[in-house]
Amino acid sequence: MMHDSGLSAAASGAFMIGSDLPVFRLGYGTMRLVGDGAWGEPSDPDECRRVLRRAVDLGVTLIDTADAYGPEIAERIIGEALAPYEPGVVIATKGGITRQGPAKTEFVGRAGYLIQCVEMSLRRLKLERIDLYQLHRIDPRTPLEESLGALKRMQEQGKIRHIGLSEVTPDQIEEAGKIVPIVSIQNRYSLADRRHEETLKYCEQRGIAFLPWYPYAGGKMLKPDHPAAQALGRIAAHHNATIAQLSLAWLLQRSPVLLPIPGTSKVAHLEENIRAAELNLSAQQWLEVESSFQV
Ligand SMILES: NC(=O)c1ccc[n+]([C@@H]2O[C@H](COP(=O)([O-])OP(=O)(O)OC[C@H]3O[C@@H](n4cnc5c(N)ncnc54)[C@H](OP(=O)(O)O)[C@@H]3O)[C@@H](O)[C@H]2O)c1
Repeated sequence: MMHDSGLSAAASGAFMIGSDLPVFRLGYGTMRLVGDGAWGEPSDPDECRRVLRRAVDLGVTLIDTADAYGPEIAERIIGEALAPYEPGVVIATKGGITRQGPAKTEFVGRAGYLIQCVEMSLRRLKLERIDLYQLHRIDPRTPLEESLGALKRMQEQGKIRHIGLSEVTPDQIEEAGKIVPIVSIQNRYSLADRRHEETLKYCEQRGIAFLPWYPYAGGKMLKPDHPAAQALGRIAAHHNATIAQLSLAWLLQRSPVLLPIPGTSKVAHLEENIRAAELNLSAQQWLEVESSFQV
């Protein structure tokens, strides 16, 4: 892989998912490659393909997606743009959320449905095995044994390598871990939203990967009218950085198990985001960043 001008996700350091899946910590999330509300085709599909190829060029090895993005569209674009995959590139997908329209969802964890999800993701992603398959949500109407039992069967058949969860508490990870080994979780977490501190602590103690979603609070943190915008803008400027870079660098220093997956539909934003791996602040300066949110 060529990394021009030294810019590379490798600067974020490495993490071993499970015991055998190494990735660089700063990844890329694909939800922004599709229409608003994760619904429909992107407005600029060529730029989406360029974003994916550029991510790989820049050393990104962890690409997060889901069959619910589009639905199906993000996975299809990944397959078109990146297959056959560069060695070391890990595509982490998810199943278990159905979509009825923009930002309208229903969770479905029935075994037959999840098995179909895995089969169809394999087809769209042009893979023979999915390195990391995440249960997108626990379906409250389906026993967890049924949902994870289906993924376990897919794992035994070699169609899934590792299993992860999304939006879960430590108790839910414990319960799931009795059915199948859980190597990763994916919860909403950022400077602006720290409700999952307990889950982060749980993951840290066990070396479970924690993929924080909404690193910019759904983009709100990057808007000038955000309550922390002024303070963050001042600190970022002092470090020749942007608020987006500060937000990602904060996640990288917050815990070694955090693997950020910032989403963007633009090459320029992708490059800016990857540069966050090079940003270093002192402990005192990070406290100042955190205090911008205690208002
Ligand atoms: N497990 C779950 O339930 C779940 C839920 C949501 C998301 N996710 C995953 O988490 C990933 C990250 O979440 P997200 O993408 O929704 O994050 P986010 O915090 O919402 O940030 C994305 C937004 O910020 C903008 N942006 C990105 N980089 C920027 C930059 N450098 N300068 C200015 N604007 C920038 C993007 O617009 P542009 O396209 O214009 O750059 C987009 O509007 C998703 O892609 C998805 O893979 C998971």
